[in-house]
Amino acid sequence: LLRRNRPEEAMTAFHRIDDLIERMGAITRQLKSYARKGQSQLSPVDMGEALASSLSMMEPQLKARRVRIAKILPDEPVRVMGDRMRIEQVLVNLLRNAIDATKSEAHPEIEIILASGETAVLSVRDNGHGIEDLDALFEPFYTTKQPGDGTGLGLAISSGIVADLGGRLTARNGSDGGAVFEMQLPILNETHQAAE
Ligand SMILES: Nc1ncnc2c1ncn2[C@@H]1O[C@H](COP(=O)(O)OP(=O)(O)O)[C@@H](O)[C@H]1O
Ligand SMILES: [Mg+2]
Repeated sequence: LLRRNRPEEAMTAFHRIDDLIERMGAITRQLKSYARKGQSQLSPVDMGEALASSLSMMEPQLKARRVRIAKILPDEPVRVMGDRMRIEQVLVNLLRNAIDATKSEAHPEIEIILASGETAVLSVRDNGHGIEDLDALFEPFYTTKQPGDGTGLGLAISSGIVADLGGRLTARNGSDGGAVFEMQLPILNETHQAAE
């Protein structure tokens, strides 16, 4: 295009190539972080602590968008058998998505509830635009974001991680708008530990 003296078109093509390279980078970064999982050792993980570190990792983005965070945690620690890095990876993904979904809210809010019963349940609720397509949500490469903003791998990888740990990741739209994601994991109770 340059040789034919069409610099405008060459520029457009370069931008397109640049965007695609950026996107390839984002996809390989996500896949690499999942591929490492094979070596991981399962150990007791305190869900409250995993949540606290995920929130602090996301603090710059949460602050920049002035997102209000409401946390409801039980008095007793909630422990699961897992891989702390992976659990935090799921939480960071959910928080990142909640921040994105509340982008045009004047008062963005994320509510996080940790509860334990037969399973450990951590739910992340936001007051954003809600989920468009519940059936496609966990499909790899399903994204409603601009190329460069989303790879569509976050939830596919996250649900894989939760399933590997014997739990499940589910999603629904809240009754008054916004999305609710729920991560359920088998609880680690003291009797379990004593038996091991
Ligand atoms: N909290 C949420 N509220 C509304 N839609 C969501 C939320 N989280 C995820 N989604 C939808 O699911 C899609 C896939 O999410 P994800 O797998 O994390 O990929 P990505 O964030 O790269 O798009 C998003 O593009 C969005 O359309
Ligand atoms: Mg995402």
